[in-house]
Amino acid sequence: MSPFLLTRTLPEDATDADLRADVLHGLTRTPKVLPPKWFYDARGSELFEEITRLPEYYPTRAEREILIARAPEIAAATRARTLVELGSGSSEKTRHLLDALPALESYVPVDVSESALTAAAASLLDERPALSVHALIADFTRGLALPGTPGPRLVAFLGGTIGNLLPDERAVFLKSVRSLLAPGDALLMGTDLVKDEATLVAAYDDARGVTAAFNKNVLSVIDRELGADFDPDDFEHVAVWDRQHEWIEMRLRARTALTVKIPELDIAVSFESGEEIRTEVSAKFRQDGVRRELGGAGLDLREWWTDGAGRFALSLAVAV
Ligand code: SAH
Ligand code: AVI
Repeated sequence: MSPFLLTRTLPEDATDADLRADVLHGLTRTPKVLPPKWFYDARGSELFEEITRLPEYYPTRAEREILIARAPEIAAATRARTLVELGSGSSEKTRHLLDALPALESYVPVDVSESALTAAAASLLDERPALSVHALIADFTRGLALPGTPGPRLVAFLGGTIGNLLPDERAVFLKSVRSLLAPGDALLMGTDLVKDEATLVAAYDDARGVTAAFNKNVLSVIDRELGADFDPDDFEHVAVWDRQHEWIEMRLRARTALTVKIPELDIAVSFESGEEIRTEVSAKFRQDGVRRELGGAGLDLREWWTDGAGRFALSLAVAV
């Protein structure tokens, strides 16, 4: 069996303190907001996987198409011995990279979702006995300390998850990624692209209601962890395209005026009828913007690959 290590760099009490701080801050301000990382308990991670298989949710299929087509070029350009993956989830698409990197010795998946990490690692261990897997339970927005694995290093950030950060958060995040790299090491990053509103809104408001369940799952997390009495049925799932910012916003809209108790925080949160919580932004990109944001962090865009339909892009950037 291959070497496997699971390290928690986020102590459970730190996670708890973060959730408390985010809920207190986010639900006592106007407009109300919650950070998207709290979607991903075990149920949320399962719902996300279900989203990736929906007919309306094209990003996963589009990114997989690019990965399959470009994996040999990525291998040749990076000659990576260590692959670090941020927000790795099920590591499903990553298999195409793992298969294509001949010099790869070490895989470091990083995620806040312990259930996703352990499930992904279990199946990888069976399939790739020679690969050393060091899974990290960590928040990638909080400064990462990586295990001492051999270079060259390739950091993968797939799925378009960069779009779930706000522009100023992205700038800080990309600089922290750059600090993990030596000159010549690379970042492989997936970005969903700006496209027509109908396609975008359908991808975030699917006919079967899986995205609605994923969105409402954050309320169940707060109920379980903080003893709150949110009833997810009191809220409606909303997905809107913000043309000015070029991002999708997911929101939860109160169906009636209501008050929710959150005993662990010793607060009660009132909602007017129709009042919304912003639960996620999912920014859509253009090549110029990606080049600029990477460049601002000391990462030089070398390759820009899209799927055949031009819906999604993979960027390969090199640390300079
Ligand atoms: N990369 C996978 C999964 C994308 S879903 C794919 O392309 O399909 C986003 C993943 O990022 C989830 O597994 C979630 O748990 C993780 N995640 C979200 N915010 C995070 C954070 N701040 N730190 C670490 N992981 C995070
Ligand atoms: C993980 N992330 C890139 C997804 C996205 O498309 O923004 C999360 C998601 N939200 C709703 N559907 C999927």
